[in-house]
Amino acid sequence: MGVAGKVALITGGCGGLGKAFAEVLLKRGAMVCLVDLNSKQGEEVQQQFSKTYGKSVVFKQCDVSDKQSLEDTFKFTKNTFGRLDIVGNNAGIGDEENWEKQIAVNLTAVVRGTYLGLDYMRKDKGGNGGVIINTASMAGMIPLFTGPVYTATKHGVVGLSRAVGSDARFPQQQVRCNALCPSFTDTNILKNFDGEGTLNAISRVIVRGTGVMQPSIVAEAFLRLVEDETLNGEVMRVTSQKGIDFKKYPRAETLKLPPEMISKL
Ligand SMILES: NC(=O)c1ccc[n+]([C@@H]2O[C@H](COP(=O)([O-])OP(=O)(O)OC[C@H]3O[C@@H](n4cnc5c(N)ncnc54)[C@H](O)[C@@H]3O)[C@@H](O)[C@H]2O)c1
Repeated sequence: MGVAGKVALITGGCGGLGKAFAEVLLKRGAMVCLVDLNSKQGEEVQQQFSKTYGKSVVFKQCDVSDKQSLEDTFKFTKNTFGRLDIVGNNAGIGDEENWEKQIAVNLTAVVRGTYLGLDYMRKDKGGNGGVIINTASMAGMIPLFTGPVYTATKHGVVGLSRAVGSDARFPQQQVRCNALCPSFTDTNILKNFDGEGTLNAISRVIVRGTGVMQPSIVAEAFLRLVEDETLNGEVMRVTSQKGIDFKKYPRAETLKLPPEMISKL
């Protein structure tokens, strides 16, 4: 997909990774709705980007775990820019103590954002086709024992993205869906490990041993998932050791369904 002239909605768009995703798209001529819980940071980032990208960037305050708020945000983006082509379900938190909230933000909201993305972009429902990129994590494949519920949510995001990305209705819908799995990246989320306690100390050791990437590296990977039309249902890893590569899974069998069955789905 060519990015120039396209419209993107990025949740967690004012944090470390989401801001980098937004910037890489703006640089290539897209219009972006930055979606974030933090309105102070949101207005600052929007003002900062507006100096270079003018009216191509807007900010919408939204708690992605609030159904109505997320629905309003999709409507706002479409009403503001007239179309929607790229959805980055990226907002996420690390909070094992408040694990119900972690599931609501990291998984439930990603499910809702994926379905809303499909509703708005499906060609067979009046959209232009498009791409959904769900930010999972290396913890979507490798267990992070200091964060069991974080691990569960990210495994969920990987499974969701693979299933939606192997939908037999793709020829009619023309919406791709992929999971992006970065390893540790230099953003505020790593500050969760700054506190006291053995689990935080272990997490800091794991982070030091694994290495920490810059958000711009992950943004290049995000851009590839947007631009490369052959990528659908993929799980892209980004690590400081290997750069970009893809986790290989057996392909889903749905694409072999007879057309008369698919038309009834
Ligand atoms: N940084 C890493 O090491 C790393 C590695 C793998 C995956 N991830 C994932 O990347 C994504 C982005 O995280 P980040 O590293 O940029 O962290 P970050 O803390 O810098 O950014 C997260 C952003 O999401 C926003 N947010 C939090 N809760 C929200 C809510 N309920 N509604 C709307 N916005 C909300 C925050 O205000 C913040 O701007 C997350 O899903 C995270 O799990 C991060």
